[in-house]
Amino acid sequence: MTGKHTGQEPNFATSSVDVLSAIRERRSIRRYTGEPVTEEQLNTILHAGLCAPTARNRRPFHFIVIQDRQLLEKLAQGKIHARMLAGAACGIAICGDKTVEERMEHLYADCFAATQNILLAVHGLGLGGVWLGVTKDSDWYQLIKECLELPAHIEPAAVVSIGHPAEQRPTPHTWEPGKIHYDKWTTQ
Ligand SMILES: Cc1cc2nc3c(=O)[nH]c(=O)nc-3n(C[C@H](O)[C@H](O)[C@H](O)COP(=O)(O)O)c2cc1C
Repeated sequence: MTGKHTGQEPNFATSSVDVLSAIRERRSIRRYTGEPVTEEQLNTILHAGLCAPTARNRRPFHFIVIQDRQLLEKLAQGKIHARMLAGAACGIAICGDKTVEERMEHLYADCFAATQNILLAVHGLGLGGVWLGVTKDSDWYQLIKECLELPAHIEPAAVVSIGHPAEQRPTPHTWEPGKIHYDKWTTQ
């Protein structure tokens, strides 16, 4: 059961990774085995995106799942730092509807909250993914709009490349006390 446009909940994959471990251990994964992502895994990833908080609960995000190999190749060729899309099981373009959220800072914040949720779900399922930035009005931004046939009111905010990991990356040291301040700005 796909749940595509039926309004009914589809089947979801589950994860035993706890949320704090996922936050700490997620890394950008850019090499993939070529194994496909199941529909249940994809549903879980998309649902995680849909669970993100949004300003005034407007929920302006839309997710475009990119599975067509020619499309993935074309997008991979359009930006040097997006080359891994050619070997990905799929990509997800995270877009915002400007008619639902007119304030662009909110639109981007909402889309980026969804993007991080998607990355954490990918990691929690044992898959690998990487956030690909979309600079407004860049050549890649234009290519995304053209390839995915986005109407003028739909703004691409990020793309996530997803697959089964063919690389393992260690958890870095990220505890930086100098970046934490209590009650007022302090310098160390
Ligand atoms: C806004 C944004 C844009 C990014 N764009 C790219 C990109 O275009 N290509 C890429 O390979 N990684 C991209 N990344 C991933 C970062 O390079 C990565 O998160 C960072 O190096 C830290 O590594 P980690 O994710 O493994 O912790 C992006 C991340 C963010 C948040």
